[in-house]
Formats: sequence, structure tokens, C-alpha cells
Amino acid sequence: MKKDLVSISDLSGAEIGELFRTVKDIKDQSRGLLGRSKYNDAVKGRTLVLVFEKPSLRTRASFSVAWAQMGGHTIYLAPEDIGLGKRESVQDVAHNLSRWVEVIAARTFKHSTIEELAHHSSIPVINALSDQEHPCQALGDFMTIKEILGTIKGIKLAFIGDGNNVCNSLMLTAARLGTNMWIAGPKGYAPKKKYVDLAKKAAKNSSASIIITEDPKKAVEDADAVYTDVWYSMGQEKEKTARKKAFKPFQVNSKLLSKAKPNAMILHCLPAHRGEEITDNVLDGPNSVVLHQAENRMHVQKALLYRILRK
Ligand code: CP
Ligand code: NVA
Repeated sequence: MKKDLVSISDLSGAEIGELFRTVKDIKDQSRGLLGRSKYNDAVKGRTLVLVFEKPSLRTRASFSVAWAQMGGHTIYLAPEDIGLGKRESVQDVAHNLSRWVEVIAARTFKHSTIEELAHHSSIPVINALSDQEHPCQALGDFMTIKEILGTIKGIKLAFIGDGNNVCNSLMLTAARLGTNMWIAGPKGYAPKKKYVDLAKKAAKNSSASIIITEDPKKAVEDADAVYTDVWYSMGQEKEKTARKKAFKPFQVNSKLLSKAKPNAMILHCLPAHRGEEITDNVLDGPNSVVLHQAENRMHVQKALLYRILRK
């Protein structure tokens, strides 16, 4: 594995497979919070720093708990604490943190800020969400699909909504693991060409297909899994009105889901804007696996931290 996880592009399909085997081992060995395993003291005496420019529930809590369950200590640095790139340059922050802690998980507005942090840090840097990617989310989500459907290769995953950070990381993961991923969103909101090209290139080695459409019904037709995310991400609140209008026909509701396979699994990274991209009855319905996804964030990040630091 590389030093950093800035993008899913930092991982090969084989490395994701190895990571998932570690996740399974962690889950098998943990048997509840009191279970003892080789992971319990894996990072004893070491420090993880969370450098966050945006709010978070799942990522902050799941990283902190994962690290604590392996015996480590976490420091949370909020935007106002360090003023990344404002009070002090990203380079200087990276150099200083590298002298005290063992790993950085960073949530930033610009993807380039995480790239810069990784470039200047002598310790591993993990992307905890940027405007372009959310790799830990995609890894937890594909682990969830694997656990529930039993397979990832050859399934049809429909992503309905914005071609955003979550969509990019899912697309790059699907392309490495052989998933047929359909992405449906309104004109002008498809994923960026750079990410579609990267995904299509990786898909050649795994027989995955990556299909972009503006027709949500076609995307959902016979899908094994349907995923959605908010129509306006953190930092895009000013575009809320225009986006709500453009995305209206792309709501994941019972009517749209009638086209998918019966009992198709429903995924959402959360937080959800209930009544916008997804209806309450779907989000809270029997096929929703959103809390399974949230739980798997912790297991996947634990496996990731364990593997990255063991090198
Ligand atoms: N899914 C996710 O990353 O949630 P948070 O923004 O709450 O961390
Ligand atoms: N696309 C969302 C994901 C939140 C986990 C955002 O960036 O706000």
C-alpha cells in the first residue's frame, strides 16, 4: 500500500481485496466491544490527528472510535484551531504534525489541500472527504455491498444524483472491483470527465462498466443496489435553490424503485436531506442499509489504519 490514501486511485483492486479481508478478520475477532484481538493494542501510545475544515458526525466519530479500540489517542483540530493555509501554510502544518503524531486524517474543501498535506508530511495522510473524493466512504460502502449481496463483481449499482465526491470515489472503486455502475443526474451535474476517464480506464482490467445517463429510470432498471447522496454538498449551500430544481426528477422514492430489482438495497452515505434526494419511507424502509454503511466506516478505517501503519 502507498503511504497515503488521498484518492481511490492510490489503491489497486487487489489491495482493496486485501483490505476487505482485514476488515472481515477485525469483525470476526472483535465479537463485541469486549473481545480481545491482535488489533486491540495495535497503535498503543500513538496519536491520530483529525484536521477538519468541515463538520462531520460519522467520519470524526468512526475514526476516533476505530483508533481508540486499537489503543491509540486522537486529537481533533477544528477549522478555527489551525486555519489551514490561512494562519499557517499547509506545508508548515504538515511539517509540524509529522514531528508529533503518527497519522493525519484530513477533511478539506479543496482536494489539492489534502494532496499538499500528503506531499509535505512524512507520516501517512488519509482523505476524510474533499470536494472531489470520499475514499473511506466508498470502501465502507463496497464492504457493505459485499457482506449483504455476497458479491461485488457483476452487480448493477445505480447512483442517482450529483456527480460529486462520493460518486467519484464509488465510481473509481466500482471500476477496480468489476461492478457495473450507472450514474444518473441532470445535465451539467454529471461527474467530471477526469474521474469518468480514470474510472473507464481502470474498468478495462475488471470488466466493470461505467455508464453516465440523464435517465434515472434506465439507471435504476434491474439494479441490485441504489445509492443517492445530497443534491448540494458542504460548501455548495449557495447553489441550493438551483440545485433543488434541477435534481427534483432524481428523487429516490418508491415509484423510481419499482424499476429496480425487488428488494434492491438502498444506500446513502448520510447525512441525508430527507424529502429531497430520498423519501423517508425509502431511507427508513426494510431495504435501507445506511446504518450498516455507517458501522462499516469504522471497521474499514480501522483496517486501513492498521495496514498503513504496519508497513
Ligand atoms: N458520511 C459521512 O462522511 O458523514 P459525516 O459527514 O457525518 O462524517
Ligand atoms: N457529498 C456530501 C457528502 C457528505 C458525507 C458532502 O460533501 O457534503
